[in-house]
Amino acid sequence: MSEQPPPAYAGPTRVLSGVQPSGALHLGNYLGALVKFARLQHEMDTFIFVADMHAITVWQDPALLAQQTREIAAAYIAAGLDPAKATIFPQSGVPEHAELAWVFNCVARLGWLDRMTQFKEKSGKHKERSSVGLYTYPVLQAADILVYKATHVPVGEDQKQHLELTRDIAAKFNHDFAAPGFFPLPDPLTQGPGARVMSLRDGQAKMSKSDPSDLSRINLTDDADAIAGKIRKARTDPEPLPDTLEALAGRPEADNLIGIYAALSGEPKADVLARFAGQGFGAFKPALADLAVSVMAPVGERMRALLSDPAGIDRILLAGARKARETAAPTVAEVRKLVGFLGA
Ligand code: TRP
Repeated sequence: MSEQPPPAYAGPTRVLSGVQPSGALHLGNYLGALVKFARLQHEMDTFIFVADMHAITVWQDPALLAQQTREIAAAYIAAGLDPAKATIFPQSGVPEHAELAWVFNCVARLGWLDRMTQFKEKSGKHKERSSVGLYTYPVLQAADILVYKATHVPVGEDQKQHLELTRDIAAKFNHDFAAPGFFPLPDPLTQGPGARVMSLRDGQAKMSKSDPSDLSRINLTDDADAIAGKIRKARTDPEPLPDTLEALAGRPEADNLIGIYAALSGEPKADVLARFAGQGFGAFKPALADLAVSVMAPVGERMRALLSDPAGIDRILLAGARKARETAAPTVAEVRKLVGFLGA
């Protein structure tokens, strides 16, 4: 007899994602994550959190951590996430993440974690000096997602492996505790405009907060002058812009600037090229600078306005955490029963 596949998850669709409060946000985060979150909140039940528990897998100054947690929350709201629509909260405000993560630590296998490339990169040559938390980081990530039974997870390419691990944990939990379809096997959402914003100084490297050159990125807190100056100084090549996408191959800087223009204006790249074909960067860069300033400067202003009232942000996050727990607590109660823990 052939084995039947277990029944699929039958619950509602739900989006979940999070950003770590460990450094300033830039245009890559804005286009690749925040704008996407804001769009998804109109399509699905959406949970967006600040991953402060993930941040402390490497040392964080406590006062800075609190400040950066507020900054991420302010950035979410400045980018269009609406606390009345999406559930926005700090991870540490919902203890069910940690509770489920423990159970998942006992479901995941050492061999699975040993394969995680991000741990290898982050721990470097001195793995024995890394925190244990850095190693089990992806298990906490699985708990973040599954405690809400999220079905869709907008993340960058670099997080795909953690999503695969999440699916493996969900499937093994469902199997081991004879609960077919209990957890969904969530899908990553990695596509979309702005999915990969590259450095302004090197079209082959991702825009990154750890790049030593501040000219390589547009920070969310940059003012209009800084934004325009960085675009003026962005690296390019001497050729005029072509009229087809194919002709951008082998021109990573040109491709990146066209991609940024398209993501900021909400147009397909081909339409942007059609408009600027045959022109040099002397004409294109000022147009891009104007567009970037018109979109990004107000985001920075909204962020600053929100951050001028830290208690207001804390109230939003506290209310979000309460709302998140209404979904997380029933999942953990069911898990406790399935595992055989006595009722609390
Ligand atoms: N690891 C993610 C990152 O560095 C952040 C994160 C933590 C996350 N938990 C998550 C993303 C759950 C999506 C879902 O980008």
